[in-house]
Amino acid sequence: MTGTSFEFPGEYYEIMRGDFRDLRAETEFLASLLPDGGTVLDLGSGTGTNLRALRDRGHRGTGVDPSAAFTAYAREAGDEHIAYVTGRAEDFRTDERFDLVYSLFMTLNYLPRAELAATLRRVRGLLNPGGRVVLEFGHLLNFVDSFQQHTVGHHRGPDGVLITRLARQMINPHAANWRNEETLLVRAADGTVALYDNFFDQSVLTGPEIGDLLTAAGLAVTAEYGGFRKEPAPFHGRGPLIVVATARQEEDHA
Ligand SMILES: C[S@@+](CC[C@H](N)C(=O)[O-])C[C@H]1O[C@@H](n2cnc3c(N)ncnc32)[C@H](O)[C@@H]1O
Repeated sequence: MTGTSFEFPGEYYEIMRGDFRDLRAETEFLASLLPDGGTVLDLGSGTGTNLRALRDRGHRGTGVDPSAAFTAYAREAGDEHIAYVTGRAEDFRTDERFDLVYSLFMTLNYLPRAELAATLRRVRGLLNPGGRVVLEFGHLLNFVDSFQQHTVGHHRGPDGVLITRLARQMINPHAANWRNEETLLVRAADGTVALYDNFFDQSVLTGPEIGDLLTAAGLAVTAEYGGFRKEPAPFHGRGPLIVVATARQEEDHA
């Protein structure tokens, strides 16, 4: 089976995610591309953290994510200015248009490779005039760097919550697919221990492949970074590939 699960309590995802992110930098970066009271679409919105942070800056938006557990958590934590759709990014359709469409933490790598081009093309069509796209991709070197057959990580949350993440990773070189299977061992605030299984497949994309996909989708890249503090793009080095793009004019897009 390929796909993703991410069906475990959202508060535990937030604890682990907090160890891998700089939310302030992400929010500054995204907000700097928005007009006052802008509209955003978050593809793979997870537990809704980015949407809530942008909401605090006066923006409103929609999140799309197939995890029922995460979207339920996000709805509960949000307000009427944030809407959530439980579903895959590639299936999302709307008549709304957005000032910013973004997808963070390598979420587009979760899409089947064959569906990426059509999805990005649709993203282009969802932009308001002058609207922007921010996509944080994992690229080949991220996968090469972080490959370990087995990893163990510990994440501490409030009230003594401790999450031990035991992950197993596999690569299918013929499909350029990366599979992660993990067991989360969670000691909750009341001292009880619970186990959750999680898995995901990701398409291993190269930088040039990502560039070609964006061009084919009618998107023009205006900036590339290796982090939300505007670190240099990882042409030779580490870090994700963060792409800022706009819709290319149709006449340029012959
Ligand atoms: C690593 S989490 C990232 C969540 C969030 N963007 C963040 O930065 O914390 C990946 C998310 O992608 C979602 N996901 C998996 N497949 C997806 C798809 N086809 N379309 C949209 N989201 C997807 C998962 O449910 C999960 O919430």
